[in-house]
Amino acid sequence: MMGCEHLRNLLAIENCEVVAYADSHEPSRQVAASLVKTATGYLDYREMLATEKLDVVVIATPNHTHRSVLEDVLRIGVDVLVEKPLCITADECREVIAIEEQTRRPGRVVWVGLEYRFMAPTARLIREVKSGTCGDLKMISIREHRFPFLTKVDDWNRFSRNTGGTLVEKCCHFFDVMNLLADSKPISVYASGAQDVNHLNEIYQGERSDILDNAFVIVDYENGVRAMLDLSMFAEGSRNEQEICVVGSDAKIEAMISDSIIRVGRRDGGRNGVTEILVQQPQGVVAGFHAGASFLEHRAMQHAIRDRQPSAVTLQDGLLSVAIGQAAHISIAQRRSVEIVELIK
Ligand SMILES: NC(=O)c1ccc[n+]([C@@H]2O[C@H](COP(=O)([O-])OP(=O)(O)OC[C@H]3O[C@@H](n4cnc5c(N)ncnc54)[C@H](O)[C@@H]3O)[C@@H](O)[C@H]2O)c1
Repeated sequence: MMGCEHLRNLLAIENCEVVAYADSHEPSRQVAASLVKTATGYLDYREMLATEKLDVVVIATPNHTHRSVLEDVLRIGVDVLVEKPLCITADECREVIAIEEQTRRPGRVVWVGLEYRFMAPTARLIREVKSGTCGDLKMISIREHRFPFLTKVDDWNRFSRNTGGTLVEKCCHFFDVMNLLADSKPISVYASGAQDVNHLNEIYQGERSDILDNAFVIVDYENGVRAMLDLSMFAEGSRNEQEICVVGSDAKIEAMISDSIIRVGRRDGGRNGVTEILVQQPQGVVAGFHAGASFLEHRAMQHAIRDRQPSAVTLQDGLLSVAIGQAAHISIAQRRSVEIVELIK
């Protein structure tokens, strides 16, 4: 799925050519072949890395493979975009950060695919917070109410050992947005959640799926900002799949992602002073599955490579977003608050 999303977006990016792709699954290679007819297909990505002359590699394999695929790609020295979550645990993320440091060359761009921050209403909300519209930011809440996980190749996403758990796999996007908004270090996480509705009767080779489908997660930041995630994956009847709300000393700002609107309500204006703004996509965006965010991510990465600028979404961002999700799973399992230093020394 995500590999094809990348291909469609890359085809729409100027001065970019997809020369090769690799996938171990024949039907996936066939879909890729139909999208990029002139590119060479490989069964083994290592053969592709050894054969082709590449500038940039995009990794969109299942989460539990990111650690090893990324190591191989980092060692050949090309620029790389690795899909979220960076890896399935904070330890694995720290290992790839160490490998990147050993293999670093000046100007290399290593980018984590946390593209929700590029969705137009989210990007606008972030800009408003950074420019001081809500005053001193105090509270962040993000609600994702959506449909269950889709079916994936070999059903890899039905088991937490492959995904890192829902709060890593899916929610790293939201923890990344929280981290950007809070502009501070996350210090502790408390969560309550379970698998209550979805996949309960799904058995794969004698093993039942163990995918959490709803949770509340509370994150405390060093600067006093507090954040909350409200996740339900059995809420198809939602007008907006994601809603983000921030409250500061002067105003409240909400972003309705599917409706592409933000609302700004200043305290001194009261209920009647709330302004609603329809947020337009930046010019030239090709909207794919993620409201144009993947296209914007690729375009931003291309600019970073051309202008020799650092990555906008770093391995450190990937690590922090995974660590919060992992801490939330530990919190649920052990019914306690988890300090981020337990995972990142
Ligand atoms: N950024 C986003 O919003 C977003 C959305 C969906 C998925 N993703 C991420 O993209 C990645 C892929 O997810 P998906 O939904 O496309 O899954 P998918 O099952 O649709 O596709 C994964 C593909 O990887 C292939 N593969 C597995 N191991 C491989 C290997 N060692 N070498 C080469 N190919 C291999 C599989 O055969 C399959 O074709 C995951 O990390 C997922 O979290 C990100």
